[in-house]
Amino acid sequence: MIVSSDDHPEGRMRKPVPLYGSLREGDVVLRPISLQDIEMLRRWRARDDVRVWFGDQNVVTAEAQRRWFEHYLARPDDVMFTIALGDVPVGAVALYAIDFPAGDAEYGRLMIGEPAARGKRVADRASEALCAWGFGDLGLSRIHLWVREENRPAIALYDRIGFEMRAAPSIREGFLFMERRALP
Ligand SMILES: CC(C)(COP(=O)(O)OP(=O)(O)OC[C@H]1O[C@@H](n2cnc3c(N)ncnc32)[C@H](O)[C@@H]1OP(=O)(O)O)[C@@H](O)C(=O)NCCC(=O)NCCS
Repeated sequence: MIVSSDDHPEGRMRKPVPLYGSLREGDVVLRPISLQDIEMLRRWRARDDVRVWFGDQNVVTAEAQRRWFEHYLARPDDVMFTIALGDVPVGAVALYAIDFPAGDAEYGRLMIGEPAARGKRVADRASEALCAWGFGDLGLSRIHLWVREENRPAIALYDRIGFEMRAAPSIREGFLFMERRALP
């Protein structure tokens, strides 16, 4: 993976987490989301084959999405990326609830929103790049996630890249808890 800082045009996100540029894994590129991305993210998130897998399945309005983005920009513990194949954005993923003292963060908001990009293991490469950044640049020791127990493609992907089922720290009906640990 290459971490570059040459992709920070004025107006792109500035957040209090350690500053970052784009992340790469092969032909998959992760870029911090910006205002220009949020309508595309909203449309992907509203797809029936995407929203059913999230905790909140509601379709968000454009206005609510803008409010979410303002709130998001102010959060020091939440970083979201678009996933691109080369130059073409096809999905998104995030690390949030980043707790530096505890060395822990939650992985989520993963979606491959462009149907043509599905089934190509793009999510594997994007997740690898994000975890490598979390364990490397952010110095995390654990990354956890919640996944719906019927979401077989997602569970298979998390399993492939080293997440393991763990006892859930709290009850969340219909969801499984998985965790990946940094290599010692
Ligand atoms: C889960 C998800 C991110 C996986 O992305 P991906 O990069 O397409 O994953 P893969 O390439 O590993 O493909 C996963 C499965 O999709 C299926 N698939 C293949 N081509 C597909 C296509 N064109 N359209 C839909 N599904 C397809 C296959 O069953 C494949 O599994 P297999 O090849 O291992 O048998 C994606 O399916 C998605 O965005 N799902 C909706 C949101 C979601 O579930 N997010 C995770 C919440 S925890």
